[in-house]
Amino acid sequence: MGASNTLLPVFVVVLHFALCCFFALPQVANAGITRHYKFEIVSINVTRLCRTKSMVTVNGQFPGPPVVAREGDHLLVEVVNHVSSNVTIHWHGVRQLRNGWADGPSYITQCPIQTNSTYVYNFTITGQRGTLLWHAHFQWIRATVYGPLIILPQLNDSYPFPKPWKEVTILLGEWYNTDPEAIINQALQTGAAPNVSDAYTINGLPGPLYNCSAKDTYRLKVMPEKTYLLRVINAALDDDLFFTIANHSFTVVEADANYVKPFETELLLISPGQTTNVLLKTKPIAPSAKFFILARPYSTSLGPIDNTTVAGILEYKTCSHSSKSKRLPVIRPPLPPINATNVAANYSSRLRRLVNAQFPVNVPQKVDKNFYFTVGLGTTPCPQNQTCQGPNGTKFAASVNNNSFVFPSKAILQSYYFKKSNGVYATNFPTFPPKPFNYTGTPPNVTFVTQGTKVAVLPFNASVELVLQDTSILGIESHPLHLHGYNFYIVGQGFGNFDPKNDPKNYNLVDPVELNTAGVASGGWLAIRFFADNPGVWFMHCHFDVHLSWGLTMAWIVLDGKLPNQQMLPPPSDLPKC
Ligand code: C2O
Repeated sequence: MGASNTLLPVFVVVLHFALCCFFALPQVANAGITRHYKFEIVSINVTRLCRTKSMVTVNGQFPGPPVVAREGDHLLVEVVNHVSSNVTIHWHGVRQLRNGWADGPSYITQCPIQTNSTYVYNFTITGQRGTLLWHAHFQWIRATVYGPLIILPQLNDSYPFPKPWKEVTILLGEWYNTDPEAIINQALQTGAAPNVSDAYTINGLPGPLYNCSAKDTYRLKVMPEKTYLLRVINAALDDDLFFTIANHSFTVVEADANYVKPFETELLLISPGQTTNVLLKTKPIAPSAKFFILARPYSTSLGPIDNTTVAGILEYKTCSHSSKSKRLPVIRPPLPPINATNVAANYSSRLRRLVNAQFPVNVPQKVDKNFYFTVGLGTTPCPQNQTCQGPNGTKFAASVNNNSFVFPSKAILQSYYFKKSNGVYATNFPTFPPKPFNYTGTPPNVTFVTQGTKVAVLPFNASVELVLQDTSILGIESHPLHLHGYNFYIVGQGFGNFDPKNDPKNYNLVDPVELNTAGVASGGWLAIRFFADNPGVWFMHCHFDVHLSWGLTMAWIVLDGKLPNQQMLPPPSDLPKC
């Protein structure tokens, strides 16, 4: 919430607190200060859906604690690992200028933090404000290790929209009745698709539409005739989510910590790793009803899918006693069909970057380096003397330009920085698909992928265009692609195969939305542009963890520039060793 500079609002807030006891974000003071956080990685028992299980958490909290800062602040987050698994923390969407050491993906920018070890994430938030998230970046630990990362504008700065009455964080997640690490390890062994989640959650709570779950329901209590800022974060592992509140509409004002041209909608679509800020204007008079807050997947997956619905409840506070309000009916909103690709495409086409003197766009108008990457599923052969449970007795794999990424045993960033790449990675990541075919037409018979630890190299400040092309190899499917260390502009998107002659004629180079994670449409393509102005090693992957585990990922090396401030910072002394 914004700091109040006059007495009257303080008084109103205090009075409001006393009357209606409201959850609020911690107040933060000055800009440009150093903030210390301590993350103790510990296991605790958590009960949902009448099942108690042990889960890895930060500080015993599920979901994890919010990290709140202002633009320009310096963060020191000391992570102490007390569990038997390795862990790292990724500050999803933070650009980490010249400072990949604090980015977090294991074996890419750092060796994981081993049991009984500590690492301090040391970074400054430069030129960014808005809602992001932090999450673990080792195997599937992020299923339970995630939380909000909220960057407020600098103290004397304001939002480019009317100041909201309250700010509320809504973290969407996924709940597994069993241990997610065991699920993915078993799937990688057998080659089959992993078991899907058992529930979705809002702020860790599955809500009343699941068995034995009504008491674990998120409740948003609002006052009439106020504007609330909802910071909606999708921290689910494997699912794009539709999000809606019955009889209310949203004004979307921000996506992935970038302001957008405001637009009205009753439905949000958020991919894993994405964040959306919306204004929710409450009704002038408290209605005699409550309203379901629902989230449910948008999915084009041909495999198993958790198609359940998480529900929270929006209710109006009257500040009288609540025995009457308990009996109010709860209104349920409609949701589109689970595979509503047209609804998904329509939603993403509405996102436009807010452009003004304070927030100019920096879209490359000319391109130095063109890349065309296919993204999709494939298979690897079953090892001898094993039976595999993937397609036709193979193992599931996924690839970018037919290369399924193999994690190295040493971190790529250190190997690059200390010039010891030998045996760790190769720099021959293909610029174009190695064997062109009709990517979204009849699938080819051969579905095998190659495997390797390959990176693509970019000169400092190159202007880059990357076209991501979905494939039909094992069925078309949407893929939320996330690029570390950067925001990018979505200059074009469409269905079918990208046409390099005609499609660029329709690019938006004026107000394209700026994101860090974007969905490649099912059976479609996505064109993004950015300037390679942040030297280091940057991971790019599908933010469905199952596809990441299957290898739908690659990494970029962005070379140093000539000037000292265009070069990577030296590594911290406590950088973990592999
Ligand atoms: Cu949010 Cu590499 O991830």
